[in-house]
Amino acid sequence: MKKLLFQIDTDAIPAVFDTVVAYDGGADHVTTYGGITPDNVGAIVDGAIFTRAPKEKKFTALFVGGSNMVAGELLLKAVRKKFFSNFRVSVMLDSNGSNTTAAAGVACLLKSAGGDLSGKRAVILAGTGPVGQRAAVMLAKSGASVTITSRSLESAQKTCDHLKASFGVDIAAVAAPDLDSRAQACVGAHVVFASGAASTVLLREADWKSNPTIQYMADANATPPLGIEGVDMMDRGIERDGKVCWGAIGFGALKLAVHRACIAQLFEAPDQVLDAEEVFAKAKSMT
Ligand SMILES: NC(=O)c1ccc[n+]([C@@H]2O[C@H](COP(=O)([O-])OP(=O)(O)OC[C@H]3O[C@@H](n4cnc5c(N)ncnc54)[C@H](OP(=O)(O)O)[C@@H]3O)[C@@H](O)[C@H]2O)c1
Repeated sequence: MKKLLFQIDTDAIPAVFDTVVAYDGGADHVTTYGGITPDNVGAIVDGAIFTRAPKEKKFTALFVGGSNMVAGELLLKAVRKKFFSNFRVSVMLDSNGSNTTAAAGVACLLKSAGGDLSGKRAVILAGTGPVGQRAAVMLAKSGASVTITSRSLESAQKTCDHLKASFGVDIAAVAAPDLDSRAQACVGAHVVFASGAASTVLLREADWKSNPTIQYMADANATPPLGIEGVDMMDRGIERDGKVCWGAIGFGALKLAVHRACIAQLFEAPDQVLDAEEVFAKAKSMT
C-alpha cells in the first residue's frame, strides 16, 4: 500500500520545502494543492477518508501548510470537522514551519537548561509570527513565564488572547518597537527566543552581554543580519559571555529531523493530529 500525502496549502503556491521534507519523511507520493480554504477543502478530505479500508487508512495522510498561521489553524479545524467515526486520516499542521521550528528551538533551550524551565522568565522577541506563537506555547507548557514582544501592543495582545483561547496558556504582551525597548523587555529574562522576520535585528550584542539574568538564547532567523547580534547561525548550544546560544542552523538540523519524523509518524496510525504539543513532544524525544 503506497503512502500518500496530500499537502494542502493556504498559499496560492504550495511550499516546495514541505514537499521535499514529505518525501524525505517517507511519503511515496505527495500531491500538492494551493489556495486551500475551509470552503474548498471538503472534496480533498472526502477523497482521503472514503477510499481505503479501515486498516489501510493509515497509509493516507494530510499536511496543512502555508504562510498564514491563523488560516492554517482554520483549515485544520475544517479538515477535522469532516472526520467521523473511523472515516479519518492523520493530519499535521506546520504553517510556515511554525511547529517544527519552534519545537526544535525550544527543545534545544530546554535541553541546555537541564530539561526544566519552571520558574524561568522567557521573552520571545517579535513573537507574533507563526514561529513565535508556537514557541510561546511550548515555553509556557515547559513551565516558563512567557512574554512576547511586538512593534505594536495591539498585535501582541491579540496574539496572547488567541493563544489563551487555543491552548489555555497565559502569555504577557509587551510593545517593543525598537532596539532600546526590546533590550528593556529582556530585563529580568532568563531565556530569549528571537523569532522576527528574516534579516531583522532584534537585540544588540551589547544589550544581551550587559544583561545579567539571561542564561539561554535562541535565534530562528537564518538570513543575515541575524535576529540576535553576536549569535552565530551555526551556534549549537555554545556559551558566549556566559549565555548558552543556539543559532537558526544550529537547531535547524533538529527542526528538519523532527519534520521528517512527524511525516513518518503520520503513516503509523490513521487518527493522529500533529500540532504544537505533539510536535514538541517529538522534538523533546529527539534531543
Ligand atoms: N531555523 C529554521 O529552521 C526556520 C524555519 C522557519 C522559519 N525560520 C525563521 O524564523 C523566523 C520567524 O518566522 P515567522 O514565519 O514566524 O516570521 P514572520 O511572521 O515573518 O515575522 C515574525 C514577526 O517579526 C516581526 N517583524 C517584522 N518586521 C519587523 C521589523 N522590521 N522589525 C521588528 N520586527 C519585525 C513582526 O511582528 P510585529 O509586526 O508584531 O512587530 C512579525 O510578526 C524568520 O526569521 C524565519 O525566516 C527559521
